[in-house]
Amino acid sequence: MSEQNSNSLSTDKLRTLIEINSRINSNYSDINALLVHILESAMRLVECESSSLLLVNNEDDNLRFIVALGPKGAEAKNILVEKNSIAGWVAQNNKGVIINDVATDSRFSSTVQTKTGYVTNSMMAIPMRVKGRCIGVIELLNKSFGKKFDNSDMEILELLANQAGIAYLNADSFRSAQDNISVLQNKLKSGSEYHSFVAQSPVVLDLLHIIEEVAKANTSILITGESGVGKELFAEQIHLRSNRNNNPFVRVNCAALSPALLESELFGHVKGAFTDAVSDRKGRFETADKGTLFLDEIGELPLEVQSKLLRVLQNHSFERVGSSKTITCDVRIIAATNRNLEQMVKEGSFRGDLYYRLNVMPINVPPLRERKEDIKPLARFFLKKFSEETKKNFEGFSASAEKVLFEYYWPGNVRELENSIERACVLGKPPLIHGEDLRISNFSLEAERSYPANKNGICNEFLFDDFVSSKEDRTLHTALTKFKTAYVKKILEETSWNQTKAGEILGIQRTYVSRLLNELHIR
Ligand SMILES: Nc1ncnc2c1ncn2[C@@H]1O[C@H](COP(=O)(O)OP(=O)(O)OP(=O)(O)O)[C@@H](O)[C@H]1O
Ligand SMILES: [Mg+2]
Repeated sequence: MSEQNSNSLSTDKLRTLIEINSRINSNYSDINALLVHILESAMRLVECESSSLLLVNNEDDNLRFIVALGPKGAEAKNILVEKNSIAGWVAQNNKGVIINDVATDSRFSSTVQTKTGYVTNSMMAIPMRVKGRCIGVIELLNKSFGKKFDNSDMEILELLANQAGIAYLNADSFRSAQDNISVLQNKLKSGSEYHSFVAQSPVVLDLLHIIEEVAKANTSILITGESGVGKELFAEQIHLRSNRNNNPFVRVNCAALSPALLESELFGHVKGAFTDAVSDRKGRFETADKGTLFLDEIGELPLEVQSKLLRVLQNHSFERVGSSKTITCDVRIIAATNRNLEQMVKEGSFRGDLYYRLNVMPINVPPLRERKEDIKPLARFFLKKFSEETKKNFEGFSASAEKVLFEYYWPGNVRELENSIERACVLGKPPLIHGEDLRISNFSLEAERSYPANKNGICNEFLFDDFVSSKEDRTLHTALTKFKTAYVKKILEETSWNQTKAGEILGIQRTYVSRLLNELHIR
């Protein structure tokens, strides 16, 4: 090499190093682009055919490709590189190597070569260190023009590997800071991470007792109950009473996302796994490590995600979407649903094996109408909350309001009670909330009157007056709707809310029963 050449190389080298440094300082978030740039620079300066960066898996010391450039880079990326390889040796010894005839080196593993068809003749590999510890390996393959790698090449690569290490450290700190920020933002949004839990009825106090016991074990828990009974709050209580209470409680609503998004939300993804996957992303399972993952509306979990969840429950392991690297996690699962999972298993829309795994410890939260002792303390709690929010000084409930609160059927349970008191605080005038402020319709109170009779299976409870008593609205349409609602509800009660059986009695399809439930707001 002439003097001019070697000078021009060092100028190029210097320029490249300065440029990489300024990139490292300006962009922490796109670590992948930066690493690709570092490897491209290495290939240009050293003059070789391909390069790759592999990260060491701390659990088994095997390595996986993070970046692979060159003719077969794309194929190489999905291959696992075992620790008994040259890259593995470099990582374990934290030392670089130059091998100009790999075929004669006993550490050379031909796995990648066989799988990609790319033949390696010469290579140079060097550890990528963070604070002195080797976290990955950078490899350069096949020096161009039939030349050999030498110590000056090694020097260049060492400088670049150090920069790659700094870039990686920066990006990692940046990522974990971002994760912390989003956790804190979530906390701020909801005021506090956990809700206040109000309970006075013997049945709920008993449940809390049981929860105290089961919280300590690591078994999965399935919480069932009608909509609005407080299933999420029970899940919080289990977490708070467990040994995991200093670790995250992560919530996922299975109904809120499409199947594809849900899978990546739960398990994370690697860059390029799908079109929008612009960078690697941790899933909720990883975020919840050592804590609890609350899977709300588990009945909505698509079948393909159900099998992946089952595997986590069995082996505590999973892969991010688009990755073959197995991740292990220590997460306790609490699932909740207002659907009849047993029925869904029979119908084939929920996996039986998953159901039995989740249902190790079932907790059924009773509807509010079956624990009336909770109504008053809950009502007082919501009154205080919404008095503060509306800046009105409510002192309590009038006798008429107390009567409505106690006698109403509360089909929407605690959520409906909460909403109704919020509305009353907005519309009412202090110091007392009156019956009419609660805006419970006459019809709903009638439904309440007929409910106990239904329960006893007495057939003559449909009093004519119940359907035509309203002075304002005596239309046939309204009366028929009221009758239809009460009758469908009665048959559902008789069949323990089994929609197939109810459909048979009513002479209609199960899907039509389900539609009626929505249309008539039957719960
Ligand atoms: N024991 C309780 N103490 C205080 N607030 C409660 C209690 N139970 C429920 N709530 C309140 O009622 C509302 C509904 O509770 P939650 O969301 O837990 O119900 P859910 O059973 O999960 O309903 P869904 O099935 O519709 O998701 C929430 O705003 C919650 O704060
Ligand atoms: Mg819920």
